[in-house]
Amino acid sequence: MTKPTDSYRKSHVGPGIGKRYDQAHAGRLDSLVWDEHVKPLLRELLAREAGLHSASRYLDFACGTGRILKQGLAFFPEGIGVDISIDMLTEARARVPGAQLIQADVTNDSLPEQLNGMFDCVTMFRFLLNAEPELRRSVLKWLAAHMHPGAALIGNNHMCSASVGGLLTHLARTFSGSSKNVLSRKEVESLLVQAGFRIEAWHGFRVLPSLRGKPALGWWLQRRLERVALTLGLGRFGVEQVFVARRI
Ligand SMILES: C[S@@+](CC[C@H](N)C(=O)[O-])C[C@H]1O[C@@H](n2cnc3c(N)ncnc32)[C@H](O)[C@@H]1O
Repeated sequence: MTKPTDSYRKSHVGPGIGKRYDQAHAGRLDSLVWDEHVKPLLRELLAREAGLHSASRYLDFACGTGRILKQGLAFFPEGIGVDISIDMLTEARARVPGAQLIQADVTNDSLPEQLNGMFDCVTMFRFLLNAEPELRRSVLKWLAAHMHPGAALIGNNHMCSASVGGLLTHLARTFSGSSKNVLSRKEVESLLVQAGFRIEAWHGFRVLPSLRGKPALGWWLQRRLERVALTLGLGRFGVEQVFVARRI
């Protein structure tokens, strides 16, 4: 979907990449699981955060084409989306009209003034997995410095090593030199703790395997069995792991 680059900063830059990004995810298992499970959970979490301590200032870091930002804006009076890629932001502008969208690399020294001050809640989806270690650390450090104590960082790891997909990805890395990434809950936790957060909760999804992004068991059966797996508490073996972390 995206070309390997020397830095994740450049991975989503280029004409038309925003459109291709949205098209590539449509009709795949992850968008079904997003619609049925992850989006409702995220909205519940955001509603709760927005109600806490009259929280008002929300940031969607690495907002891309605006999928997550759109949810946040339903609950917070002030919402900002930041992304390094103008091409991704072009799609976000169409999807979330009225949002404040900023093109910036938060790890740069000079940033627009809208990014000054502190945030009450931050989201960060589909970022940590593929960002290189230096970028992960720098971004988390910047976020921690711009979040009030007690503010929530809600994010995800979209290829967890404890899932069937994670295991296969790990084997492909070991035996066929694949460059696809996997992260464990422990690795994510360690990054967050080092940056000054504590993990409050994990929610896992996409337990049943996919084949090239499509449901391995067909849409009907996969949908039902995914619900059963989640009801049985097997979410921790899901490919997608959503975390709620709190700034200490
Ligand atoms: C896979 S997309 C995720 C988009 C969105 N969060 C979602 O879940 O649909 C990752 C995004 O991270 C952005 N990105 C990478 N490095 C960045 C940086 N240093 N500052 C801001 N955005 C960055 C990319 O441009 C890309 O749009």
